[in-house]
Amino acid sequence: MRILFVADVVGLPGRRVLRSGLEHLRAEVRPDLVIANAENAARGNGLTPAIADEIFRAGCDVVTTGNHVWDRKEIVPYLVEHPRLLRPANHPDGTPGRGSCLAEARDGTPVGVANLMGRVYMPPSDDPFRAADVLLQSFARETRVVVLDFHAEATSEKAAFAWYLDGRVTAILGTHTHVPTADERILPGGTAFVTDAGMTGPHDSVIGVEKTEAIERFLTQRPVRFSPAAGDPRLQAVLLDIDAATGRAQSIRRVEYRERAGEERH
Ligand code: FE2
Repeated sequence: MRILFVADVVGLPGRRVLRSGLEHLRAEVRPDLVIANAENAARGNGLTPAIADEIFRAGCDVVTTGNHVWDRKEIVPYLVEHPRLLRPANHPDGTPGRGSCLAEARDGTPVGVANLMGRVYMPPSDDPFRAADVLLQSFARETRVVVLDFHAEATSEKAAFAWYLDGRVTAILGTHTHVPTADERILPGGTAFVTDAGMTGPHDSVIGVEKTEAIERFLTQRPVRFSPAAGDPRLQAVLLDIDAATGRAQSIRRVEYRERAGEERH
C-alpha cells in the first residue's frame, strides 16, 4: 500500500498548490492514504475551521499540526469534533482534540497516525518518546501500519526519535523546519525516516515568510510582523510503499510538484 505524506502547507499559496498538486499526484501515484501537515495553512499561522475543511476537500485524509495549532482559537471546537485533525499528542491530559487517529486506507488497511512534537528549541511539551510508547500500545491492538509526524526543530532529536522507534512503526516523518532533507531512508528495523519533508508553499521566501520582512527582523532585532510570501509555490512530500501485513516500509522517496510547470520530480 502507498501513503503520501505532504509537508507543511503554508498560507494561500500552499493551499492552492496542495489542491492542484494532489489532483495530479492522486492520478499519477495513486496513494491509498494522504496525510498532510497544515499547521501554517491560515496566512502562515494556525488554521481555521474553513481552511481545515478546504484541506480535507483537497484530498487529505488526515491532517497533522504542531506548535502553531493553537494560533487561531476558533479551531479548538473543530479539533474536538473532527477526529482526523490532529494536534500534538504529547500535551497534558485534558488538552482539547486528539493526538492520534485510526484511518482506513483505500485498500482497506487501518493506519494509525499520530502527531508528536519535539522539545529542543520548541515550546514546552511532555516527553514525545514516552508518549510514543503509550500510543504504540494502543495502535498494536488495531494495526501494524503506523505513521508518525514528528514536528520538531533539532535534527538530533528527530534522528534519536527515529532510532528509538525503529522496527516499532512504519514511518517517522519530520516536519516544522520547512526545509526538506536529503536523508530519506529505511532504518534496519523497517522504519522509514526523513528528518524533514519540507514545505508546501511559496519557496521564493524565507521558510514561507516574505523575504524582506525576515531580513528586516534579523537586521533590526525588532519583532517585525510577518506575512506569507507568494512566489514559486511547490508541493513537497514523501511517498511511502508499505507492506501492509508486516507494517514495514518498503521504500520512501521525496516528491516535488511545481505549480507553474505542472511537473513532478523525484
Ligand atoms: Fe511548526
